Amino acid sequence: MEVFDELWLDVNIATMSGENYGVIPAGAIGISGEKISWVGRQKDLGKKALNSVKKIHRGNNFWVTPGLIECHTHLVYGGNRVCEFEMRQKGVSYAQISKMGGGINATVQSTRGTSEDGLFLSARERLSGFLKEGVTTIEIKSGYGLDMQTELKMLRVATRLQRQSYATIQRTYLGAHAVPPEYKGRADEYIDFLCNEVLPEIKKEELADTVDAFCENIAFNTDQVERLFLKAKKLGYPVKLHAEQLSDQKGAILAAKYQALSVDHLEYLQEDGIKAIAKSGTIAVLLPGASYYLNETKKPPLELLKNYKVPVAISTDLNPGTSPINSLLAVMNMACVLWKFTPVDALLGVTANSAKALGLGSAVGTIETGKKADFVVWDISQPAELSYGIGLSPHKIVVKNGKIIQ
Ligand code: NIG
Ligand code: FE
Repeated sequence: MEVFDELWLDVNIATMSGENYGVIPAGAIGISGEKISWVGRQKDLGKKALNSVKKIHRGNNFWVTPGLIECHTHLVYGGNRVCEFEMRQKGVSYAQISKMGGGINATVQSTRGTSEDGLFLSARERLSGFLKEGVTTIEIKSGYGLDMQTELKMLRVATRLQRQSYATIQRTYLGAHAVPPEYKGRADEYIDFLCNEVLPEIKKEELADTVDAFCENIAFNTDQVERLFLKAKKLGYPVKLHAEQLSDQKGAILAAKYQALSVDHLEYLQEDGIKAIAKSGTIAVLLPGASYYLNETKKPPLELLKNYKVPVAISTDLNPGTSPINSLLAVMNMACVLWKFTPVDALLGVTANSAKALGLGSAVGTIETGKKADFVVWDISQPAELSYGIGLSPHKIVVKNGKIIQ
């Protein structure tokens, strides 16, 4: 007989495991400790289980989904890039701005010039924007410091957020985001610096969980990324890659060789890259917000990804340059409107598939026995309502590790 600490009754459950949201109508969820210990039709619950439970919640026939998982953000940064927004509205492209010394390097300057506390406060504000929407797990990258001191400062901010927030936070070292001004024209030497000095220090101070890079003609080539990946793997870090965002650099093929957790962006990904990631089990993370914001007309190869059965996650890519978008629900709508996602694929993209993109597929992302009791109880008529609008903010209750926290 199951003994539950808490039991949720009168809910419809989008488990996100199986076809069509994995729906369990008129369902119940039993929680023991921080985990889901029972999920199914309410009528199948034993009477004894009902009698011995410590706390019962009634869900009023609301819908339960897994807690949302935001798998790609540049949440920590100083300043903003509103001046570049004005330039782009006058016709200057993102790549041109980057070549003129703006772009990522502009945010590098402002992030270097902001104190750790200053970065913490603005990042916490943005984090709270995600939490209000039902996000329970989130990834945070470094990559706007580039020098040792500022990268460590950013990762310390992510670590502070990790300690102080109820959310599960995964920290990613993205030193290979851009070549910093002090290494201009010396990208190879910069990669040496990351491999020989920064990564070992990050390892020593336990400041990151994964390693990422930006493979692009305005950033790093595959040889440089490969050197970084070799070192990261040697230190025991899983890797991921910003790949094929502005051109096809064959980054996805390289990432697959190193069993990357995910390859992200992918507008210019071709069939050879898709074959490679299908084989390595790497998740495709698509970022409709960045595409929308850059007015990118090239769409990622959605049909081919489907044909090769590559799981697709979606994320905001929240950053000050290409996606100042602090709403995962808005991005679900964008995936549907811009790229013809079905609402079920959009929800899979922020639950089961984004969990896999973080290597957390066995712990979160679906409502199944043995997984963490991270879920959201939504006052909606059906799960598609989550993708249906922008800014409609459905009412909700957020449960994290079995406890109501919002
Ligand atoms: O994910 N692609 C590279 N990095 C970010 C852009 C960062 C920026 O412009 O500040 C991205 O889109
Ligand atoms: Fe990004």
